[in-house]
Amino acid sequence: MAEVLDATARRVIAGGWYVLGPELDGFEREFAAYCGLAHAVGVASGSDALELALRALGLGPGAVVVTVANAGFYATAAILAVGATPRYVDVAAETGLLDPAALGPLLAAGPVAALIVPHLYGRLAPMAEILALCRPRRVAVIEDCAQAHGAQRDGRRAGAFGAVGCFSFYPTKNLGALGDGGALVTDDPALAGRLRALRQYGWGDKYHVELPGGRNSRLDEMQAAFLRVGLPALDGWNRRRRAIADRYRAGLRHPRVVCPPPGGADDVAHLFVLRCAGRDALAAHLAARGIGCAVHYPVPDHRQPGWRDADAGAGTLPVTERRAAEILSLPCYPELEDDEVAAVIDAVNAW
Ligand SMILES: Cc1ncc(COP(=O)(O)O)c(C=O)c1O
Repeated sequence: MAEVLDATARRVIAGGWYVLGPELDGFEREFAAYCGLAHAVGVASGSDALELALRALGLGPGAVVVTVANAGFYATAAILAVGATPRYVDVAAETGLLDPAALGPLLAAGPVAALIVPHLYGRLAPMAEILALCRPRRVAVIEDCAQAHGAQRDGRRAGAFGAVGCFSFYPTKNLGALGDGGALVTDDPALAGRLRALRQYGWGDKYHVELPGGRNSRLDEMQAAFLRVGLPALDGWNRRRRAIADRYRAGLRHPRVVCPPPGGADDVAHLFVLRCAGRDALAAHLAARGIGCAVHYPVPDHRQPGWRDADAGAGTLPVTERRAAEILSLPCYPELEDDEVAAVIDAVNAW
């Protein structure tokens, strides 16, 4: 892989075209086809993808956008950036995914313009139930696919369920660049057109601003070329991540450790997130054995100290808050060897 990337970098440098050129065109075509959609629009990051999706859908001050509070503040940051109001829905205890049973009452309670639903940890959210609640109320559904490249259910991949899917290509993602990157996918040509304008200052023609809210958010040629190298390998990487998750599920035997439920093609195992009473002690135990683990994520969005309106959802998200104190992500990435997985299992079981 390193040699191919090296040759790719040399090809892009020699080509002399570094922004909005043939590599991006090629990647957008190939990624849209992979997702089973008509359009992909490359942008500078997954965070920008979320924000530009909201802008392209015309959402701003006065709009209420519902999302979960356990997915790392990225959706909240986008909602706040466009001047809209976030409102939080609780998640399912076993998966950490948006809980449709909690969404129904929230949508019924007041006008909601849009929903940002993350396919957290690589697992598709319950989209049939979510769409059945959102469609009759004309709530625009934005999928946050930053952790779920390639996950599929009933022949549809992540990003193909709602109005638009937002991806991050941060290096650790299932499909990662060698730096920052992102993309949006949609079947709607008008929406794709607005996204293409917004990623470049809102221009229609060069130097002519046609849409407000635009900026510079382009996926550069070098990253697009690297992503074209990675895309054909994505399904294989996802299979390896799933196999590692299955090994953990089969091997972990500790009375205080609860594994995430098994997944099929709808789970690309971006992260293996267990639940554990005494999580911090387990993390310290693993760290002492040289095993790196992390918490995704320790502080729910409505509890973030840097956001001064942090009481917006306080006290209303019991599952989100309980999970934040219990979750721990074990190493799970395609390069991990079987003996390394076994060592993690042994270390957890010996705790
Ligand atoms: C669920 C989720 N949404 C959005 C993002 C933001 O992506 P980026 O880091 O490319 O801005 C990330 C990545 O960190 C993520 O995990």
